[in-house]
Amino acid sequence: MRSAAIYEAIVPSNIAFIKYWGKKQQELQWPANDSISMTLDSLHSKTRCRFLPTAPDHAVTLNGSYLTRDSGPGAKIYSHLDFLARELNCQDKLEVSSSNSFPTGCGIASSASGLGALTLASIATWFDCSTIDDFRTKDISYDRLIDYARMGSGSACRSLTGGFVQWIKGDHPDHQKVVQLYDQEHWRLNDTVVLFSQKEKAVGSTEAHRLAWSSPLFAPRLAYLPERIQQVKDAIAKQSIKTLGPILEQEALEMHSVIMSANQPVFYINQAASEFLAWLIQRRKEENLSVYFTIDAGPNIHLIYESAQQSRVLELIESYETITDTLTDTVGSGPQLRKFKESSE
Ligand code: PMV
Repeated sequence: MRSAAIYEAIVPSNIAFIKYWGKKQQELQWPANDSISMTLDSLHSKTRCRFLPTAPDHAVTLNGSYLTRDSGPGAKIYSHLDFLARELNCQDKLEVSSSNSFPTGCGIASSASGLGALTLASIATWFDCSTIDDFRTKDISYDRLIDYARMGSGSACRSLTGGFVQWIKGDHPDHQKVVQLYDQEHWRLNDTVVLFSQKEKAVGSTEAHRLAWSSPLFAPRLAYLPERIQQVKDAIAKQSIKTLGPILEQEALEMHSVIMSANQPVFYINQAASEFLAWLIQRRKEENLSVYFTIDAGPNIHLIYESAQQSRVLELIESYETITDTLTDTVGSGPQLRKFKESSE
């Protein structure tokens, strides 16, 4: 008899300081470059799984809506479940319900947290793991979980580790690894996301990774990145926001320049976001405030600053007339896993 247990994974999103942009090889999700990110705390995906003993297929809901195999996010989720089932030789179908604590698919890395949480929750269900440590007792190393998460969405591999994280591409698709540079206690940084659109982006990251290669800016970017990566690591080591900030901005704008100059240009940044950036650059100077931006594949702006400056930064943003919504988070410790009976909820 299968237990009626529910397995719940909470996996935080992460914000990339050095972006994963372009794949060297599609099949094993081998990135064109190393990336560095900060794992967040409260911006997360929560995924619950349980066995569906007699069902012909998995049943997946995202933020309360049923997903089919051919819907946008459904396609990614079902195909990752199929991949995991094949890899781990698990035939049992699952009921999966996932929700995000933030808007989905608009540049807040919902695929990182979502595919990370799906990986942990589904494998926990198939192998009856109640805690993260349990995976090891079932002969599933944490590095293997990270590899699995990466296959769901590249950036998800960084979300399974807390603090400041580097995804190292290595010299072969099988030699990739994810390392924690520092844990969440090393440096209290905040990420305030200023929302300019909560709509799902029109061009997904899979397509953008492919298009990046067609930009004339891509090869020079790859040649220069090792130097920038070292600068970011040094800035994190020294906890120097004044060193880190300008590099973050250059890196984000470069990523967007690459995709805007691809042979099929993609514009993730919209007019409202550009106007805000121009305003921010002016106002932070007047206020002598060390607040810097980065931007993922969407129009929403991530403001990175030391947590001690939170009230000043939020006050500054509130003075901008057309802001509709912000989400403030800080560096976090990584995923959580638990098992419970439905009645105990
Ligand atoms: O993991 P993907 O395929 O959704 O790619 C993520 C790409 C960026 O979020 C834009 C950058 C990054 O490193 O997270």
